[in-house]
This record gives sequence, C-alpha cells and structure tokens, in this order.
Amino acid sequence: MSLLTLLFFSSLLSLSKSTPLKPHPLPILPLPSSQQLQWQLGSMSMFLHFGPNTFTDSEWGTGKADPSVFNPAHLNATQWVQIAKDSGFSRVILTAKHHDGFCLWPSVYTDYSVKSSPWRNGTGDVVAELASAAAEAGIGLGLYLSPWDRHDGAYGKTLEYNEFYLSQMTELLTKYGEIKEVWLDGAKGEGEKDMEYYFTTWFSLIHQLQPGAVIFSDAGPDVRWIGDEAGVAGSTCWSLFNRTNAKIGDTDPLYSQQGDGFGQDWVPAECDVSIRPGWFWHVLESPKPVAKLLDIYYNSVGRNCLFLLNVPPNSSGLISEQDIKVLKEFRELKNSIFANNFARKAFINSTSVRGSQFSAENVLEEGLDKYWAPEEKQKEWELYLEFRDPVSFNVLEVQEPIQMGQRVASYHLEMRNVESGKWERVVRGTTVGFKRLLRFPRCESRSLKLVVDKARADPLISYIGIYLDKFSDSGRNSSKITITRTLQEELVLNDS
Ligand SMILES: *[C@@H]1O[C@H](CO)[C@@H](O)[C@H](O)[C@H]1NC(C)=O
Ligand SMILES: *[C@@H]1O[C@H](CO)[C@@H](O)[C@H](O)[C@H]1NC(C)=O
Ligand SMILES: *[C@@H]1O[C@H](CO)[C@@H](O)[C@H](O)[C@H]1NC(C)=O
Ligand SMILES: *[C@@H]1O[C@H](CO)[C@@H](O)[C@H](O)[C@H]1NC(C)=O
Ligand SMILES: *[C@@H]1O[C@H](CO)[C@@H](O)[C@H](O)[C@H]1NC(C)=O
Ligand SMILES: *[C@@H]1O[C@H](CO)[C@@H](O)[C@H](O)[C@H]1NC(C)=O
Repeated sequence: MSLLTLLFFSSLLSLSKSTPLKPHPLPILPLPSSQQLQWQLGSMSMFLHFGPNTFTDSEWGTGKADPSVFNPAHLNATQWVQIAKDSGFSRVILTAKHHDGFCLWPSVYTDYSVKSSPWRNGTGDVVAELASAAAEAGIGLGLYLSPWDRHDGAYGKTLEYNEFYLSQMTELLTKYGEIKEVWLDGAKGEGEKDMEYYFTTWFSLIHQLQPGAVIFSDAGPDVRWIGDEAGVAGSTCWSLFNRTNAKIGDTDPLYSQQGDGFGQDWVPAECDVSIRPGWFWHVLESPKPVAKLLDIYYNSVGRNCLFLLNVPPNSSGLISEQDIKVLKEFRELKNSIFANNFARKAFINSTSVRGSQFSAENVLEEGLDKYWAPEEKQKEWELYLEFRDPVSFNVLEVQEPIQMGQRVASYHLEMRNVESGKWERVVRGTTVGFKRLLRFPRCESRSLKLVVDKARADPLISYIGIYLDKFSDSGRNSSKITITRTLQEELVLNDS
C-alpha cells in the first residue's frame, strides 16, 4: 500500500469518527458544461490568421488569388505553438479556411487548397503540422472554418453548400485528433448571395464528432462572441445569456458584452482582438504596445471572459520578431504583477461560514474546488483581511466557483483609513464570474473588507487577490477618477 493510499484511508477513518460535514450548497442554474469549464480555465487562446491573404497584403481575400501565391518557405508550426505556450496561452486556433475559401489542409472536396500551391510541392498540410506540434506541446487545438466562402461555386445554393461545408468540417474533425474549439462567425460581404446555413445540423454534427469541443459563434451554443473586435467585455459580464435573444451575424453588441443576469443558458464570452491592426500579417503593420495588451487582459480575462489574441504568422511562415518581443514583455509584466498576492499575508475572517470546510481561508487557495460559503439566510456577507503591516495596492481579484453557477451581482471593497481609522470605499463592482480584476488608484491600509451586496443566491468566493500593478500606476494620474454613467456604477480609471 502506498503512502498516499494509507493517508487516504486514515483520513477516511478520521472523518468517519468526527461529525459529518455539512454538504455543499445547491448549484444554481444555468451551469457550465465540463467543456465550457475547461475552456474557461484556459484563460487565453492564440488565434492564427494565415492563408493567401498573408501573401497578397489583404484582409478579405476575393477567392480569386492564384494558389501559387501561398508559399511560406520557412513554415514552422512548432515555433507558433512554442511561442503560444511560452506566452501563457492554453490553445491555438487556426483559420483552416477563411472567407477566400482557400483550405490550409488538402481537402478532397476542392482543389483550392495547399495541394495546388508550391509549398512543400503541394504535399503539405498546415492543419496536420499544427495539430502535431500542439499535441506534442500539450496545447489545445481549435479550428476556424469560415461559413462564407468566396471561392466555391456551391456558395449560394443552400443544400449544396451545406453539404460541402459539413463534409469539410467532417474532414477537420476526424483527421487531426482532438479539437478543443470550433470557431464560426456570421461574416458575409454586403450584397453577397443569400443562402441559409443549417446551424442546428452543424452544431449537432460538431458535438457528435468532437464531444470535447466548444463551439464559438455570435450566439454560442457553447461560447459567445463579445460583440466587438477590440477585446473589451462589459464591466458587467454574465456568463448567463438567452440564446434565443441572439442570432448569428445579427446580435446586439450590448447584450453580448454584458450577458444577462436572468439568462437561461450558460454561454460565456470570448474576446477576440488582433495584436496588429489587421487580422492577417502585413509587412507595414506593427504589433500593439505591451501596455495595450495588458489593458485588454484586464478588460477580458479580468471581466470573466477568455482572451483570444490573434498573432498572425508572416509570409515566411513564422511569427515575426516584433510580435515575439511584445508577447515576451506581456508575459513578464503579467507575472510581475500577479506573482505577488498580498492577501496571502493576511489574516482572513468572515461574518459567517456555512461549515468548517467552507472557511474564509479557502479564498487563498488557487483553483475553484475550495471556496468560502457564508451561513444560510444572512443579512451580511463580508470577508475581512487583516495585515500586520499596511499594504499598498491598486488591483483587486475575485473569483467565484462557477461550477456552482454565477451568483454575485454587486459587491465593493472597503479599507480602513490608516489615519482616521474610518472605513472607506475603494471600488465597487457588479459581476464576478470566473475571474474579476478591478483597478483603482493606489491605496494603503492594514484592514480590508470585501462586501457582497447582491447575489442570485448565497455568494461563494473561491479566490481573492490583492496586487500592486506598478506599471499601470506610473502611467496614470491617480487623482483622475470617474464614476461610469452606466448601471455598473463601477469606479474606473479614466484612461482615455
Ligand atoms: C521550428 O521551431 C522550433 C521552436 O522554435 C525550433 O526548435 C526548430 O528548430 C524549428 N525547426 C526548424 C526546421 O527550423
Ligand atoms: C519539389 O519538386 C522539385 C522538382 O520536382 C524538386 O527538385 C524538389 O526537391 C521538391 N521539393 C520538395 C520539398 O519535395
Ligand atoms: C431571458 O430569459 C428569461 C427566462 O425566459 C427571461 O426572464 C429574461 O427576461 C430573458 N432576458 C431578456 C433580456 O429577454
Ligand atoms: C518572419 O519572422 C521571422 C522571425 O521569426 C523572420 O526571420 C522573417 O524574416 C520574417 N519574414 C518576413 C517576410 O518578414
Ligand atoms: C471572526 O469574525 C467573527 C464575526 O465578526 C468573530 O465573532 C470572530 O471572533 C472572528 N474570529 C477571529 C478568529 O477573529
Ligand atoms: C493629476 O491631476 C490633478 C487634477 O486634475 C492635477 O492637479 C495634478 O497636477 C495631476 N498630477 C500629475 C502628476 O499629472
């Protein structure tokens, strides 16, 4: 018997002798699926826009580019995956087919693909190379198969095109191992031929072929588009949503950004944005500065969403040096801010606890399994952090154990003024969800209090972080504070 097994049995034994534990509270619907949970835990994915557009300096290819333009002499999918992994991304998503209809794999349903290109003498397969590099590195793989196809003659003929599209989808979902995400959108040019996409059939088939995958579109079913291409979520952001309120290709951006506190479906949001002005690589474009990436991180991951950052490989088939440099700075900056959680040094207590296994100290343990739960039917829900010495901070992190449903609808942080001894409000927020990061002017105190003001059910808190972001601090005038006009009533920095 191993030591672990022994420990396991002895802990069972000691449990059986003590009083039985109070059970967990009832989860509150809607709940995430296991695929959605896994997706959310990944926090960041890297998008790879690549194809003929990379060589023709365009964003929306016409579908008429000669396949001979596609010739990435030094293509190395291992480099893409390595950079994604080193920079903290959990998944990569490739444009297997963009609107121009060109396939990065040798589809048997068209000649408009890598097999008609000079790259690897027409024997190459970008999807296969990426799938194998990702599997090797332990990074998840996602694929984008554009519904809009400007090349294929079947486009515009509803039955024919749906058959064509699903046959290509089947190739992608059966030949390349495990696929973690299938990405679709409703993009279509003005005046484009009218036809119907059989979304319900598509979604059923995708789930049948890849039960571990989440499907992204403007309206789910598993993951929703945030409603803009800036990577910015609403400051209120529910994973709850009514799928019936959204139509692919025609959604209300505000509804997508905020979700719906009364929503029936669990459809969390993904924030897609490109590191460069365009989605495809262009020789004259440069990546965004690291400060911008950090801002987007706060506004996406820090608002209960997944950050999908597009890093387009260049025409050599490699991620450019400039992009690699910014990604490295981004990783280092993020680490420098979030490596040091001051809350770990605090003595933590709460107004009440549901039972000994739901104690307030649980908010210092990473992961969602352990959480603080208050006793039932309380008027006040408060967590206290007491420090031996005053701490200087300007970021609050809060997490909910979303496997139990998203609950918190309003909360605020207070601190005791070092001089006057009075409690003062630091920042106020609405939703939390998987992760919430709030920035505010730098504060100093020895006593903090997180107060949940409103929740859909007893609030549960799985993590609290208190950080000092020196980078955002120095670049801002902290006396310039504005209260947003919107219903969120959240204290935000005026960073315009
Ligand atoms: C591809 O990239 C990886 C990771 O950067 C590197 O180790 C490898 O040598 C490259 N392969 C080729 C053929 O350049
Ligand atoms: C491609 O074909 C040419 C001419 O047939 C040959 O010289 C070359 O070695 C081939 N390259 C590859 C990568 O197979
Ligand atoms: C979402 O659906 C629920 C239940 O049907 C409903 O109460 C709520 O008002 C809906 N939300 C919107 C914005 O229509
Ligand atoms: C693509 O990026 C690599 C660095 O990874 C660089 O060596 C190469 O010159 C770039 N190609 C182009 C066309 O800029
Ligand atoms: C924790 O807070 C409760 C309620 O305010 C209080 O009764 C209790 O003494 C505190 N526990 C400790 C160890 O300070
Ligand atoms: C910050 O803003 C305040 C009020 O607008 C101004 O008085 C102060 O000079 C500014 N400080 C800096 C360092 O810009």
